[in-house]
Amino acid sequence: MDQGPFIPLDAYRPAGSPESVSAGFYEVVRRRRTVRHYATRPVSLETVKNLVRAAGTAPSGANKQPWRFVCISDPAEKARLRAAAEKEEHEFYTRLAPPDWLRDLHPLGTSENKAFLEEAPWLIVVFRLVRSDDGSKVYYSHESVGLAVGLLLVAAHHAGLSTLTYTPSRMGFLSEILKRPIHERPYLVVALGFPAEGCLVPKIDRKPLDRIMVVHEAHPPAP
Ligand SMILES: Cc1cc2nc3c(=O)[nH]c(=O)nc-3n(C[C@H](O)[C@H](O)[C@H](O)COP(=O)(O)O)c2cc1C
Repeated sequence: MDQGPFIPLDAYRPAGSPESVSAGFYEVVRRRRTVRHYATRPVSLETVKNLVRAAGTAPSGANKQPWRFVCISDPAEKARLRAAAEKEEHEFYTRLAPPDWLRDLHPLGTSENKAFLEEAPWLIVVFRLVRSDDGSKVYYSHESVGLAVGLLLVAAHHAGLSTLTYTPSRMGFLSEILKRPIHERPYLVVALGFPAEGCLVPKIDRKPLDRIMVVHEAHPPAP
């Protein structure tokens, strides 16, 4: 079978050394926080389209791009999603959640109240395709969609917007309310908007580099 066709790489060359550019990027992304309280200030559809375009540039197994981003600003639909989510959350918090899970959630201040589903100007419900739209196979779909969502969150942060990655314990209601076809499986919900004035976030720690990174460096050549 013939390979290709191939085209020249449109290489991205930032102004600045890799050391300074990567340090600058870290300064930006380290300020990303999950936000659970949103301002009423609207976010344009054009902005959301750009964020989804950015997410859609993620690498994916065999370039199958196994994702769908359902973007909702309709208040009635957000209210329906909130009502269904809170029904699931009530079950989770009162019956399904094991005690250690509830203990881990405690510092974050989460509860079965999901007001952000109505307050955030946009909800982006992300679906993972288990088959392509043309019926062909997909590969590493979980990894691929996770990478796309990561890009979406960073693109939103870069635009001065905040997000909340929301994972209801049971997500079937997302498919039903949004009438998605069977080959699309709900993956997670991203609430998107400007943070509420005076918004507080949990005081959490990030692991230091020496706890997340292991280096096997090439030995420098002998002088
Ligand atoms: C896969 C995933 C699922 C999450 N699910 C929820 C959720 O259901 N509800 C919620 O309030 N936060 C959720 N979060 C947000 C995390 O609690 C948050 O990222 C974490 O506490 C670190 O805080 P930070 O994002 O501000 O750095 C989720 C994050 C990820 C990556």
